[in-house]
Amino acid sequence: MLVLNKSKSMYNSKIIGLGYYVPDNVVTNDDLSKIMDTNDAWIQERTGIQQRHWIPEGSEDTSAVMGAKAARIAIKRAGLTAKDIDFIVFATLSPDYFFPGCGVQIQDMLEMDTVGAIDIRNQCSGFVYAISTADQYIKTGMYKNVLVIGAEFHSNGLDKTTRGRGVSIIFGDGAGAAVLTREEDTSKGILSTHLHSQGKYADKLIVASPSIRNWVPELLANPEDISYFPYMDGQFVFKNAIVRFSEVIKEGLDKNNLSVTDIDMLIPHQANLRIAQFIQRKFGLRDDQVFNNIMTFGNTTAASIIIALTEAWEKGKIKENDTVVLAAFGSGFTWGSVIIKW
Ligand code: UT7
Repeated sequence: MLVLNKSKSMYNSKIIGLGYYVPDNVVTNDDLSKIMDTNDAWIQERTGIQQRHWIPEGSEDTSAVMGAKAARIAIKRAGLTAKDIDFIVFATLSPDYFFPGCGVQIQDMLEMDTVGAIDIRNQCSGFVYAISTADQYIKTGMYKNVLVIGAEFHSNGLDKTTRGRGVSIIFGDGAGAAVLTREEDTSKGILSTHLHSQGKYADKLIVASPSIRNWVPELLANPEDISYFPYMDGQFVFKNAIVRFSEVIKEGLDKNNLSVTDIDMLIPHQANLRIAQFIQRKFGLRDDQVFNNIMTFGNTTAASIIIALTEAWEKGKIKENDTVVLAAFGSGFTWGSVIIKW
């Protein structure tokens, strides 16, 4: 009889390389006030955002191209080459093509072997879902090194008129990447991931078109239909975000018998600085226990956590053995958390 020794067949995964890339082009709140009826004071007060990076016209950058740039940095820092990567997980809501996904473009751009690649479509929770997916492949032993990317090219899809100001001031372009590898010590690395969804509220934060049921000819025939721009019921999303962020962070801590005081670094999805500050207050966390960079990058959706994680790590704010918590909430609704022993 075959007896599976569970402790030998299961691994943890750990992050061994991080990188991010944003386009050089900085768009300040004052820049936005020249193209729509908004102002720096309103944007900073409601969101904390001071500027974002937007891909300028004529640039070669796209979600896949930026993802590849971030990935090259992460792979190098991991001490690996693209040939060492066994699998690609790419999270984005702004893919280069309707299909195929961005993951396969990374396989080509990085001249990798014909490894598998999947795209994750979970918007602001995309990176948490992507990490969780990569973690499962590593845990089972199927793959050793998995490249996880979150990238967004929002700026070309936003309504940059006063009509769209409630949404378009928030979003920024950028990409981040992480290399996950097998960790034999199961008390280290990614300890657990927690994922949720609630499709009932899909229409509260949505880009509804073009879709197969409202395709380009239909859109062109109906100039009133602007459902190709993101729609958000901001206050409803905000209220749900603070509840779900809190729940899913608590769920992750409880699962690992940790308490709030054990958190060395919380990296919340950078949706709105006010949401992150609410969570910080609710859990009674000190400033040095939470990392935010929405002020300079805006909300980069699937890229936000990985850009923030990389920046925090580059600044020496994450050290060996730290308990790091990632948490996200967004369109779907989807939400989730990741508990890491660094
Ligand atoms: O990342 C995925 C998850 N996303 C989120 O978690 C975002 C959650 N929601 C939010 O962050 C906030 O709801 C927003 C920042 C999007 C909006 O802030 P708000 O405090 O909810 O504003 P509001 O949409 O209720 O609008 C308040 C007022 C309105 O004017 P009236 O009707 O009171 O006269 C808006 O027309 O502010 C006006 N407004 C603006 N004014 C200047 C809306 N956008 C702007 C703007 N500049 N950009």
